[in-house]
Amino acid sequence: MKTNDINHVAIIMDGNGRWAEQRNLPRFSGHKKGLDVIPEVVEELINNKIKYVTLFAFSTENNFRPEEEKENLLNLLEFALNKVAKEIQKNKIKLSFIGDIEYLPKHLLKKIKNVTRNDEVKYDAELIIAWNYGGRQEIINVVNKLIKQNINHIDETHFEKLLYTSEIPNPDLIIRTGGQQRISNFMLWQSAYSEMYFTTKLWPDFNKKDVIKALKDFKKRNRNYGKTN
Ligand code: IPE
Ligand code: IPE
Ligand code: MG
Repeated sequence: MKTNDINHVAIIMDGNGRWAEQRNLPRFSGHKKGLDVIPEVVEELINNKIKYVTLFAFSTENNFRPEEEKENLLNLLEFALNKVAKEIQKNKIKLSFIGDIEYLPKHLLKKIKNVTRNDEVKYDAELIIAWNYGGRQEIINVVNKLIKQNINHIDETHFEKLLYTSEIPNPDLIIRTGGQQRISNFMLWQSAYSEMYFTTKLWPDFNKKDVIKALKDFKKRNRNYGKTN
């Protein structure tokens, strides 16, 4: 059996709202429970030697949700940053963000700057939070940078250097919970040859056993990259 190398796992964490609705709870409770399961899942991935874990937490299209829900999600982000800051530094995990976060309140940006500080520590793994992230927005940003610099010809390597993920390998595996089988504007460029794993489990129900299941499934895949073997 062919064994596949796996460096980067990205997760589209979907299904929080439905998890709450099924229990007659407000959507916020689903998001809260969704946050609670993150440490177990990330830890399991890192224990399985995954070096990069990306979590899709808020998309550019999620901006069209009601103000109250967006505010709840921002509060959860702040809560998470306060809680995990020490934890991830202790565990030698580097935290970074992709997406357009400049719109966030100043105090939150300051907090993000503090926890994503790039010091001389040698990290074991990197946790990437995709916040206000959209694949199309990311690509358009690159094009605008090129226009500004008057560059009229580039190649793929150059283009990749201008993406949010310039320092991050492309995801080998993208997991989407919640039953939908779509990419929802996530890593459009980077997912060109990612393996996809869809599960009907709602994100708040996802656990380390599900991580193992997804990784096992990935190992069976034959990654051709367009070639014949
Ligand atoms: C994913 O859960 C979290 C975000 C998109 C912020 P949803 O909130 O989309 O949950 P469902 O899809 O409505 O169940
Ligand atoms: C994708 O979930 C975005 C995140 C998980 C952050 P959505 O719930 O926003 O996606 P759609 O609307 O079902 O495509
Ligand atoms: Mg959803």
